Amino acid sequence: MNTDTNINRPQNIALTSDGSAVRIIDQTRLPGALIYLDLRTREEMYEAILSLRVRGAPAIGIFAAYAVYVLSRGYGAADYFERLDADCDYLISSRPTAVNLARQVNRVRRAAHARADASPAAVTACLRAEADAIRREDAAMCRAIAEHGLSLLRDGDTVLTHCNAGPLATSEYGTGLGPLLLAAERGMDIRALVDETRPLLQGARLTAWELMNAGVDCTLICDSMAALAMKQGRVQAVLAGCDRMAANGDAANKIGTLGAAILAQRYGVPVYILLPSSTIDMTCPTGADIPIEERGADELRSLWYASPMAPAGVKCWNPAFDVTDHELITAIVTEKGVLYPPFETALQQHFGGNSI
Ligand code: MRU
Repeated sequence: MNTDTNINRPQNIALTSDGSAVRIIDQTRLPGALIYLDLRTREEMYEAILSLRVRGAPAIGIFAAYAVYVLSRGYGAADYFERLDADCDYLISSRPTAVNLARQVNRVRRAAHARADASPAAVTACLRAEADAIRREDAAMCRAIAEHGLSLLRDGDTVLTHCNAGPLATSEYGTGLGPLLLAAERGMDIRALVDETRPLLQGARLTAWELMNAGVDCTLICDSMAALAMKQGRVQAVLAGCDRMAANGDAANKIGTLGAAILAQRYGVPVYILLPSSTIDMTCPTGADIPIEERGADELRSLWYASPMAPAGVKCWNPAFDVTDHELITAIVTEKGVLYPPFETALQQHFGGNSI
C-alpha cells in the first residue's frame, strides 16, 4: 500500500513502473485519505471493482484492460489463451451494469486472439498497447465531451450533479463533471449543487472532493433536497454520467438519477446525459434490457454510520442503478457532439457499428 496526501492531480489508474501491478486510488478511502493500492492477483482485482475501490463506468473498463495485461504476464505458452479467457470472464462478472467493463475486456481479449500465432511475450505486449490505447482514447473523449457539454451552459449557471462522473470515474476530465472542470479552467462561474448520492455517497465523498480541488464552487445537498432546489429555480441543468445507454437513449446511471430527471421535467430544467461512445450498448434495445446490479443490505443499514441506523435484520432492497427513460433526457452529450431526440435515430447514425 502507498499513501500520498500531496498530489494535486492524482492518477486514478496506472501501471507500476515494473508493470507487475495495476495501481489505483482506493476510492472507498476518499476524501479522508488518498491511498494507492497495487493489485496483482485476479482476486484482488475483482474485489477492487466489486467494492468500488475503482469505480465509474469508463474507469472500470480501463482498469480491467490493464488488469488483463498484468495477469497475462504470468501465463505460459501452453495455456495462455485458456487462462486469458478465464480471467477475462472472471473480471467481467464482477459488476453487471456498466457496459464499459465487458467492452474493454473483450477489446483487449480480441486484440490478443488476433495475435494468437505470436509468442506469449508479444501477445502480452499487445495487451498493454491496447490498454494504453483505451486510456488515451478515453481521455480524448472526455475532453471532447467537456467541450460539448460546456456549450450547453451559460456563465452564472448552477448545475445539479448526481453520483461521481469526474476524473476518478474516467481519465482526465470525466464526463458529467467535465464541463464544470473546463469552465473553472476558463475562469467561468458555473456552480454545482452536489447530490450526496445515497447509499454509497459518491457525490459527497468524491464529486465534492474533485470539484473543490478544481476550484469549482459547489454545495452539497441530500438527494431529497433536489426537488426544492429546482422548485426555487436554483438549478439550470442536471448533468449526469451513464453506465450503459440503450439503443433508444434510455440511460442507466446511479440510483437516484431517474428521480432527479423526473423532478427536472416537472420544473422545466434540462437533463443532459454525458457519456463516451464506450458506454453506448446498441445491442440493448431499451433500458428494460439493461442488467441492474443489486448490492448488499449493509450499504443501507450500517455502512458509513458510526453505529447501525436500521434495525438489525431489516429487509432491504438496494438496486445500485436506475434507468432514466429517454423521454426525460433533453440531450445526450458524447465525444461526437450533442444529440437531440429522436435519440434512436441519432444513436444509430453515430454509433450503429458499436460492438461489445
Ligand atoms: O456504482 P458506481 O459508483 O460505479 O456508479 C457510477 C455512476 O453511476 C457514474 O455516474 C457512471 O459510471 C458514469 S462515470 C463517468
